[in-house]
Amino acid sequence: MEDLVWTAAMSVGIAPLDEDHRQLILLLRDLRENIAGRNGVGALPYLHRLADYAKGHFAKEEAILRAGDYPAFAAHQSIHEAMVQDIAEALTDQAQSPDPDLAAKLYTFVLNWLKSHILEDDMAYARYFANKDRRSAAQ
Ligand SMILES: [Fe+2]
Repeated sequence: MEDLVWTAAMSVGIAPLDEDHRQLILLLRDLRENIAGRNGVGALPYLHRLADYAKGHFAKEEAILRAGDYPAFAAHQSIHEAMVQDIAEALTDQAQSPDPDLAAKLYTFVLNWLKSHILEDDMAYARYFANKDRRSAAQ
């Protein structure tokens, strides 16, 4: 299973959000290390921790985007909502029939989602805020 590592290329230029992204990646690693435990049951608390942290992070990120009048706010929020929904469904499945294979699939799904979300969707607002800062500095 691939391991995700936070790199400077993932920096959105907003310290508390970078900190959250780093923490999400650490929680993902905790999940990876506990997937096989007790035939998949061991993965559950780590999945819950990740899901809860992600929810709090999305809310924080959305508040910052809204306050900064980010033009693609609604689209970004829908992407978060869809992810919260997908994780909630996967958590229900995993709780009903714990399975290390399912947990491993979920791990890979979250890893790929997080990587592309940070590098593509989050980078789009990072560029917007960087340009905004430049414009206001020039005024
Ligand atoms: Fe985001």
